[in-house]
Amino acid sequence: MLRAIVAVDRQWGIGFQGDLLFSIPEDQKGVFRAHTIGNTVVLGRKTLDTFPGRKVLPGRTNLVMTRDEQFIVPGAEIIHSLDSFLAYLKVHSEDDIYVIGGEQIYSLLLPFCEEAIVTYVDAQRDADAFFTNLDAAESWRIDDIGPWISSVTGLAFRVLKYQNLRIKGR
Ligand SMILES: NC(=O)c1ccc[n+]([C@@H]2O[C@H](COP(=O)([O-])OP(=O)(O)OC[C@H]3O[C@@H](n4cnc5c(N)ncnc54)[C@H](OP(=O)(O)O)[C@@H]3O)[C@@H](O)[C@H]2O)c1
Repeated sequence: MLRAIVAVDRQWGIGFQGDLLFSIPEDQKGVFRAHTIGNTVVLGRKTLDTFPGRKVLPGRTNLVMTRDEQFIVPGAEIIHSLDSFLAYLKVHSEDDIYVIGGEQIYSLLLPFCEEAIVTYVDAQRDADAFFTNLDAAESWRIDDIGPWISSVTGLAFRVLKYQNLRIKGR
């Protein structure tokens, strides 16, 4: 199944000047890592650039999207187009594949995601990168609302699950 996994603020902001808006250890370990470990992640080249040492995420199959035909990164499979990704998806239809950003790649692949796992952070930040507001999206419906969790950072968040009716309804 293809899912998006994302952390948003109250405005569905996800990033500012190339960085994340938040660093919440309980989300990174308890949500992001718990979902993605042992599975496949797909990310944009710019998001890879934000990882320490530009290294791929360990313990996961990493698919990096770039139009640069020369681009290589140790431990990652490179995907050059939406069509190539959809071909990969067809062959790996039994796998759990997570779209992990950033803005361009979420926007490109969201229509093909069956579910979205959204860490909703009760805060507002300056943002220049956004995720689609799924509460306002006709084809998405909220399916599960997790309890509020207080982070050691002082921020409160909860995990929301949305379903893509265009796919679930088929
Ligand atoms: N809150 C969250 O959960 C979260 C998660 C991840 C990222 N973020 C944030 O999101 C922001 C980055 O987002 P972004 O939109 O700038 O970058 P991005 O989506 O990570 O990467 C964009 C790059 O992906 C490649 N690409 C885009 N469309 C493609 C296509 N159709 N085929 C092949 N390659 C394609 C291009 O790489 P080339 O230029 O190399 O061709 C493009 O420059 C940062 O602020 C980051 O911190 C937030």
